[in-house]
Amino acid sequence: MITMSIDGISYPAEEGQSALQVARENGIDIPTLCYHPALKTTGSCKLCAVEVTRRTGGRRIAMLACILKVSEGLEIKTTGPVVEAARKKAFMNLLVLAPQSKLLRRLACEHGVDLGPPPDGCVRCRLCIRVCTEIVRAGALKMVKVDGAGSVVPEPDRCIGCGTCANICPTGSIRVEDRENVRTVMIRDELIGKHPLERCEGCGRWFATRRYIDFIERRTAPHPHVKEIHKYCATCAKLFSDRTRAASDHSVKTRMPGH
Ligand code: SF4
Ligand code: FES
Repeated sequence: MITMSIDGISYPAEEGQSALQVARENGIDIPTLCYHPALKTTGSCKLCAVEVTRRTGGRRIAMLACILKVSEGLEIKTTGPVVEAARKKAFMNLLVLAPQSKLLRRLACEHGVDLGPPPDGCVRCRLCIRVCTEIVRAGALKMVKVDGAGSVVPEPDRCIGCGTCANICPTGSIRVEDRENVRTVMIRDELIGKHPLERCEGCGRWFATRRYIDFIERRTAPHPHVKEIHKYCATCAKLFSDRTRAASDHSVKTRMPGH
């Protein structure tokens, strides 16, 4: 029988036991994922880090409690900056491998480790914000800090329902859904805009939002060469401009001498 100390309290231990086993026997909680009492330890997850003061030099280092064998006078700490830093690093490394794991997040939360917001598929490239600000000029998206990390969020009542943000997003994080005559634009579970759709005056299909059509009409008004075909879907608009061009070519030809 030997004696070791955990968080300043002495506990009896058997030679050959690990620090983790002694801690568990005494009701001291240390997070683990890869430990199983029936199997050999591998030290894979690195979550069970504890602080050990080196006998030589007194340097404080993190060691894995599942691997660390107890010895007379061994002193470990299960809290404090050294443990917190090692634990957070281990959690972050595991989160890269299993970002969808609810167990990891719960375990981290139970041990006071902040892993930041769960991944939402957005790589923070800001293409959606830039296109909406610089090209569309609706300014319907912005980047704000949420729990210390940048996140794309809607600017209330600015969306015109054009869907350019969803088209440019490289990860498909923004969704546009047209159901019946309503278009919904979403990021994560947040609404960017919800708009009634207008019918194409050519074929009768629901095709664009009223706000988008008004917006385009306002933007193109100073350009007299732009035809007023905003009330048509892309297919009908093409047909319309092809026919107009053909008619004008025909009238030019009929006016030319010799024809
Ligand atoms: S939502 Fe898409 S486009 Fe916008 S920042 Fe995220 S990944 Fe980029
Ligand atoms: S329990 Fe996974 S490394 Fe110790």
